Amino acid sequence: MKTNMRTDYCGVVTLKDAGREFTACGWVQRQRDLGSLIFIDLRDRTGLLQLAFDEETHPDVFAVAAKCRAEYVLRATGVIRERTSKNPALPTGEVELAVTQLEILAAAETPPFEIVENSDVNDTLRLKYRYLDLRRPDMQRFLLMRHKAAKVARDYFDEQGFLEIETPMLTKSTPEGARDYLVPSRVHPGSFYALPQSPQQYKQLLMLSGFDRYMQIARCFRDEDLRADRQPEFTQIDLEMSFVDENDVMTIQEGFLKRVFKQVLDVDVQTPFLRMPYREAMDRFGSDKPDMRFGYELTDISDIVANCGFGVFSTPVQAGGSVRMINVKHGADRFPRKKIDALLPFVKTYQAKGLAWTRMHQGTVTSSFQKYLTEEENAAILERAGAEDGDLLLIVGDAKNSVVFAALGALRCECARIMDVVRKDDYKFLWVTEFPMFEYSEEEGRYVAMHHPFTAPMDEDFDKLESDKANCRAKAYDIVLNGTELGGGSIRINRPEVQQAMFRALGLSDEDVKVKFGHLINAFRFGAPPHGGLAYGLDRLVMLMAGADSIRDVIAFPKVQNASDLMMNCPDVVEPRQLDELGIALKPETT
Ligand code: AMO
Repeated sequence: MKTNMRTDYCGVVTLKDAGREFTACGWVQRQRDLGSLIFIDLRDRTGLLQLAFDEETHPDVFAVAAKCRAEYVLRATGVIRERTSKNPALPTGEVELAVTQLEILAAAETPPFEIVENSDVNDTLRLKYRYLDLRRPDMQRFLLMRHKAAKVARDYFDEQGFLEIETPMLTKSTPEGARDYLVPSRVHPGSFYALPQSPQQYKQLLMLSGFDRYMQIARCFRDEDLRADRQPEFTQIDLEMSFVDENDVMTIQEGFLKRVFKQVLDVDVQTPFLRMPYREAMDRFGSDKPDMRFGYELTDISDIVANCGFGVFSTPVQAGGSVRMINVKHGADRFPRKKIDALLPFVKTYQAKGLAWTRMHQGTVTSSFQKYLTEEENAAILERAGAEDGDLLLIVGDAKNSVVFAALGALRCECARIMDVVRKDDYKFLWVTEFPMFEYSEEEGRYVAMHHPFTAPMDEDFDKLESDKANCRAKAYDIVLNGTELGGGSIRINRPEVQQAMFRALGLSDEDVKVKFGHLINAFRFGAPPHGGLAYGLDRLVMLMAGADSIRDVIAFPKVQNASDLMMNCPDVVEPRQLDELGIALKPETT
């Protein structure tokens, strides 16, 4: 990119440029002093260009080059020439800039870590000096990919008639979902805004206003525990459409995902994507976001062991739970006894009490439970597993099905990782549909909305909204990629009386509803079209496309585990005067 200071980027120069007068600007990657010759690799966001300095022809320039250290900012002018010793590993490896003028634009202290790809510097240091970390080529590539994905989203949805509309950052606290980040109001002492967990209510109101198709690349805030795919502040590609059913929404999203994978990664993904009801996903994979790149599906053996003599199996079944297994095909080799034992603490993190197993290795069957079961029972288990020599069966039973699903769902992924059967560049999409409307919250002792309280029940389950919450299904769908929930959405409730019924089902009093959601119920009285939508986590989408391990790698300035920003050193205390203005007094233990 030409400016008044430079001819072009470093990384774009090729043999075709030989003989050309050229000025390059960038950072010193490294300097090599070979006596009467000095070489500097100059770096900008496009790559490296070798600068060559000759003491004999340009002694003054050579003297300046001798002073240059890593990360100095330089401007070098000269002529591009063919190199005598070429570097095929570098796109500019056939050429170099024979420098005749050199300017040090800025000196640099020795950085706390070397600016190279895939460095194994610890995360704390990386994030403290994030501006240096972002100089690394992989980080530059990830953020370029993020830019491209966001651009494809804007272009694609624009072509499909969506309008980009901004919604407020200072909004109202909604009690459903994660914890809110609150912002105190100076003008209304004692009152608080909340930062949006998502633009959900606004986008529904925009449908009511007749905009028909809305999109926004929206910043969202949720005060929840951080994980590799969760940040307190993240970005959604947020969408809403009027006069649509689930198929309309899913079809338009498949078009987007196809486009974004093609344009950003040059990968062709097949559409339509597989669809699977929630119940089936749980039964087969123990998860509502199954990784479809490998098998190891769950099999229920409760009927076989319900009355067996082994209490570890029979007790959970009799208590209303289940016993299920996975067959890690060809796993016996990779899992000697010690490795199997090492899986026990893994399943225990999901509250499983134990892990039973059968290993079939070179014609010998060893098992943790065989001796407690009859020959028929053992044979029935092997048969149901389709077990062959070389296989490993792993079994979990519990009085709570949720424990069995969570433990085996995670275990199948862990075994796939150990077996090395998953490739990062294999993209398996899945729609999970027919989610339950409600899930029971042990913490709150009541049913809460599984998606959010604006999601419509399935027509055939409408009557169950209040009478049979456990079996009421929603018009909700998640888009899952390789075991990660990439996005989620639903068809919404558009009739005020249904919305009222939903709030009642959630145990909200009429007064609560009036205070917290009165605006929405009122609005729905003025003609809300049938509508639905979805939101992607942009960070998760880019993480998967980049093959990164955490969304932190695709966010320029992320927060760490305890939600702080190590570079800016925040959150931080504020001046007593600022608190005074807001009418806030801190409790003694927090000061
Ligand atoms: P949901 O809560 O499922 O739906 O969020 C949609 C998508 O946002 C991403 N996401 C996150 N990404 C990073 N860090 C987080 N803490 C985080 N939380 C969520 C996920 C998720 O799939 N308003 C609804 C959407 C709708 O119904 O249209 C909503 O926000 O990728």
